[in-house]
Amino acid sequence: MLLPQLRGYAPLRVGKAQIPVNYYTVALAFFTFVLVFGIGAHFFGSTVKAGALAAAYATGGLPRYWSKTGKGDLGGVTMWKKPEGLKIVGLIFYGRRSSVSILDCYLKRNLAENGGLFDQVLFLARTDKKEDLDWLDVLVKTTPSYRRVNVSTIGDQYASAYDVCEDGTMYIKIDDDIVFIEDSAIPTIAKLKYEHPEYFTVSANIMNQPSLSWVHQHLGAIRPYLPELQQPPETPKPASGWKASALPRWQGPDNFTVTDDFVAPYPHHRWLPSDSIDDTPIMTASYGAFSAALWHWTIAAQEHFSFFEHLEKNELWRYKFHHWDYFYQRMGIQFIAIMGQDINRAKPIDRDDEAYFSEVVPKKLKRHAVVDGRAVVAHYSFNPQIEGMSSTDILDRYRAYAIENICIKQQHTKPT
Ligand SMILES: *[C@@H]1O[C@H](CO)[C@@H](O)[C@H](O)[C@H]1NC(C)=O
Ligand SMILES: *[C@@H]1O[C@H](CO)[C@@H](O)[C@H](O)[C@H]1NC(C)=O
Repeated sequence: MLLPQLRGYAPLRVGKAQIPVNYYTVALAFFTFVLVFGIGAHFFGSTVKAGALAAAYATGGLPRYWSKTGKGDLGGVTMWKKPEGLKIVGLIFYGRRSSVSILDCYLKRNLAENGGLFDQVLFLARTDKKEDLDWLDVLVKTTPSYRRVNVSTIGDQYASAYDVCEDGTMYIKIDDDIVFIEDSAIPTIAKLKYEHPEYFTVSANIMNQPSLSWVHQHLGAIRPYLPELQQPPETPKPASGWKASALPRWQGPDNFTVTDDFVAPYPHHRWLPSDSIDDTPIMTASYGAFSAALWHWTIAAQEHFSFFEHLEKNELWRYKFHHWDYFYQRMGIQFIAIMGQDINRAKPIDRDDEAYFSEVVPKKLKRHAVVDGRAVVAHYSFNPQIEGMSSTDILDRYRAYAIENICIKQQHTKPT
């Protein structure tokens, strides 16, 4: 039996639940605590102490539709009521538990059962790794809204992933290394897609996606950060906090530049705030799906540390714009809203689903792929970046942020 208390970590509807005080409640609460503690510790693995996790689940979090814009609700999206009969399903391209253990908290927060838009979340098992698949099987048992779907893992095929799609359903396709989703992001792109069916697909405003990295740079959102060159005296360990304000200033020779083949000098490596954006990696970015920001982890690292700074200061507005139309150029599809019938009519899907959904089909149908600039999400890493990225403490920082603010156990009225 699944304990209903395990369903929602995220308190989207808090304060109404009245639990009668009796022995059954007390026993159930204790049992739930043990289970949450155990499963949570299992999910987060060794990088997070089980005690910290249990504490995080037990404390308060951000209120519904918290905004990191510092500017309130843009365009009334958070007031949007899902139209009657429209089913919205999260489609997760699952491979790695290291990042999905973070994504899970954001997904739960967006489940209909917790006041969000997702009627269901499907995890497409796109890996052969037993540990990752076993972990997924534990994960999908934490809520009836989660389901595992087996797809072909032969080669690098993406086409079969879309076999599950049904006409009339809106899919929010999410890659497994999305590690931050602003509360308003899913309602924003769902609303835009619904109200503009002529768009073939609507993407979120993705932090760390090559063309948008260039856009964010030109909006002034990328800050000067450089790699820490001297290992700090204490043994490097996973970051337990995420705030950029706790970082010391960067120190190094005046003529230091980050070369393309720069290798992190030690594990759990940090990037530190420096004085000038000149000679920082973002200066090599250009507009294009295969530009420098795809290949160089150093650009991504600078972007992520800039992001932590804006997150802390409530300044995600720095990334925002209204709509950005790709006009049949290649757009990243790490986080998109798309209708089931549009997917199904476009079958057979090419093995390069990104080119197919953002260039080939839009051009054929004359229906554009656009970005909704109000819907900010963070993308951890592209394949060419992953080796360098995994030498940093960036994933630890996203985990720390999620544990502090997003992964919350349902709050119950305390028995008096
Ligand atoms: C997926 O495949 C695994 C391993 O073959 C199997 O145990 C499981 O039942 C399948 N799940 C679904 C939902 O088809
Ligand atoms: C930086 O300056 C130092 C000392 O002036 C010099 O030894 C070094 O070669 C310079 N490095 C680069 C990359 O120019």
